[in-house]
Amino acid sequence: MADQAGDPLFHSHDPIFNRKELLHVGHVPDEDRIVGRDDEIESVAAEVGAITRGDPPNNVMIYGKTGTGKSLISRHVATRAQDAARTNEIDCGVLYIDCSEANTETRATRQLALSLKEQTDYQENIPVRGVGTMEYYQHIWQILEACFDAIIVILDEIDKLDNSNILMQLSRAREAQKTDAYIGVIGISNKVKYRETLDERIDSSFGHRELFFHPYDASQLREIMRNREDAFQPAVLEDGTIELCAALAAKKHGDARKAIEILKEAGELARRTGSETVSEDHIQQAQEVAEINRIEELTSGATVHAKLALYALASRIITGDRETYKTREVYERYVGICELVATDPITENGLYRQLKEQAFLGVIESEKTGGGRSQGSYLLHRLVTDPKHIVKAVRRDSSLEELPTYDRLSGTESPSRAHDTDLSSFS
Ligand SMILES: Nc1ncnc2c1ncn2[C@@H]1O[C@H](COP(=O)(O)OP(=O)(O)OP(=O)(O)O)[C@@H](O)[C@H]1O
Ligand SMILES: [Mg+2]
Repeated sequence: MADQAGDPLFHSHDPIFNRKELLHVGHVPDEDRIVGRDDEIESVAAEVGAITRGDPPNNVMIYGKTGTGKSLISRHVATRAQDAARTNEIDCGVLYIDCSEANTETRATRQLALSLKEQTDYQENIPVRGVGTMEYYQHIWQILEACFDAIIVILDEIDKLDNSNILMQLSRAREAQKTDAYIGVIGISNKVKYRETLDERIDSSFGHRELFFHPYDASQLREIMRNREDAFQPAVLEDGTIELCAALAAKKHGDARKAIEILKEAGELARRTGSETVSEDHIQQAQEVAEINRIEELTSGATVHAKLALYALASRIITGDRETYKTREVYERYVGICELVATDPITENGLYRQLKEQAFLGVIESEKTGGGRSQGSYLLHRLVTDPKHIVKAVRRDSSLEELPTYDRLSGTESPSRAHDTDLSSFS
């Protein structure tokens, strides 16, 4: 380091960032940087808190969109409960399982057993492979018996688990006399629909409360970012930048992770362009990049037809004079676009289902409209984001990069003349 400081190739001083790590995606903020979730913290604490008094906790499911603080708050409350329990001489363990990685019962129980072993001086060998779920449960019960009065198990992204047997096992453990330790489960999902499938899959033994975390509003996002202002050098953030970033993020999604990413991207933009400060303009540009990334992420798991359908809707909006289009109108454009990329189109009904799927992802909004007595009702679709972001995001799929860019689409003939399936004007 000392050597580099003298080499002008490596600036010893970052003109924009002071503690950039505060803005990294994986960064877990300290307790005193958590803001705007006091009610949620209290609600989670109310469910698991009995543990700290030596009483049985409630299980709880937390639902909410991405970036609303579910993982952060759960870990925060669990750790505080553990500390509070300790002052009452109660041994409470905290276990965190990311079910998007440990997505089978075997993987999840293995990870539970291994992290329990890590937290104790349990001597028995826990094999990493070659054994089944039952053996892992055995280890779990033994460690609990020997070392803990209670544990809090956080099952994050629980909807990724291929079955919910682990919920049953954990909630019945005492009843089945596997252990005397109290077990409190915090399940987390950003798929509110998971709730319906969960109800069908689990029996009454996993009695649980439900909490919903709402997207952050502009003032909460502002506070969250203000709390990390020291990521930047003093006086680098121009007045109004955090306010603008918060307002944009609140309007689009209320996702704290994304808001922080925009701020970081704006800083990087400023640095790349040699600017000494981060301006509102940098925030605007960073927000565009972030929005395209977000759409790309949202649609990354979608089929090529769903992407083409989105592109078709975007291209209709760009070349037309309306914001909303009927399924039929989107379909007609879609068929033409399929030709462009040499793909066989699916049926109109199939496309309708794809559009509904996108509506669920939050990329489009569809509303039913009565078309008058003779016409019956139909769905009208609108994009919740700028169509040019959709065009950019869809073109990032390598099989679709030859689709016309936004500029070429918007430079087409007057809307009234752009015929549905006549794509010569775009290609
Ligand atoms: N209340 C808050 N105060 C400070 N920072 C926050 C707050 N909420 C979220 N963040 C920041 O946003 C990041 C994302 O939050 P978190 O991981 O809890 O979201 P999530 O609801 O679990 O999202 P996902 O569903 O995508 O997993 C956190 O790591 C943290 O940096
Ligand atoms: Mg999370």
